[in-house]
Amino acid sequence: MNQQINPDLQTVTAVTHWTDRLFSFRVTRPQSLRFRSGEFVMIGLPGDNGKPILRAYSIASPAWDDELEFYSIKVPDGPLTSKLQHIQVGEPIILRPKPVGTLVHDALKPGKRLWFLATGTGFAPFASLLREPETWEKFDSVVMMHTCREAGELAYGRKLVEDLQNDPLIGELVEGKLHYYPTTTREESRYTGRITDNLANGTVFADLGLDGPLTAERDRAMVCGSLAFNKDVAAVLEGFGLEEGSNSAPADYVIEKAFVGDGI
Ligand code: FAD
Ligand code: A2P
Repeated sequence: MNQQINPDLQTVTAVTHWTDRLFSFRVTRPQSLRFRSGEFVMIGLPGDNGKPILRAYSIASPAWDDELEFYSIKVPDGPLTSKLQHIQVGEPIILRPKPVGTLVHDALKPGKRLWFLATGTGFAPFASLLREPETWEKFDSVVMMHTCREAGELAYGRKLVEDLQNDPLIGELVEGKLHYYPTTTREESRYTGRITDNLANGTVFADLGLDGPLTAERDRAMVCGSLAFNKDVAAVLEGFGLEEGSNSAPADYVIEKAFVGDGI
């Protein structure tokens, strides 16, 4: 198969394994694909019966990038990721070029301080938005909270944040504006605890020297994690007086599922 036979086929250009459960990869970008940083698309591989196995994936690269990047879980018996985790440079991948999603600047009202709240692979849309100039042009400061069970799972996000300061396009825009708060919950590291707790009990403000609490006048938030996480964060944000927005009705915070999981 090649791109002339199947226009949805793209070619893998890079693969990085971060842990035994996490990897990222880059693919060629269809020339016609336009998307807003923070959106997701359907990607996949041909199944054994020839029918594609497609799953939703946040685009982790910003809208201006020549290629597309994805950040992925490896589910050992997952229909897609049991195969996708073995993908190699030069191999084809299916990409349906129909980007959608709510983690976009258009769905937020103007504000001063923007909170990116992610667990696990929920970091992916923020890997895009952190590299998006609009993020830095629209807000005075950005707080990136990323929480995982273990420190090793923070590696992709940490590297991305470090590289931001040296980025020729974004580096200057970011200077002095980014507050990065990686935490772990099942292993000791510099910062620990759940995002919900660290927001509600004020730990994140104390640790980073930020003004608290969140206010609907100043703060905006984008949330991406498991269903349980999203639900609990939404309750915390509503407690601060923030209201949920959407593409058609911009407001103070927006939410996207990082995956469709068990429970709730
Ligand atoms: P599935 O049958 O899809 O999943 C099996 C089980 O694995 C699920 O029930 C769940 O318990 C668990 N699981 C699935 N995905 C994850 C995950 N990301 N983290 C932790 N546990 C998980 N996945 C990514 O890795 N990166 C992304 O950027 C991403 N973006 C998504 C955006 C949206 C809007 C949605 C709805 C899902 C997204 N997902 C993402 C999840 C993705 O669609 C697949 O579920 C995942 O790739 C696993 O596919 P699978 O066929 O191997 O297993
Ligand atoms: P914890 O270890 O205390 O459960 P998971 O791997 O289960 O998706 O969790 C990823 C991270 O998100 C973990 O650090 C986990 O903390 C945290 N987490 C899971 N559920 C919630 C929730 N409902 N509220 C806040 N944090 C959560």
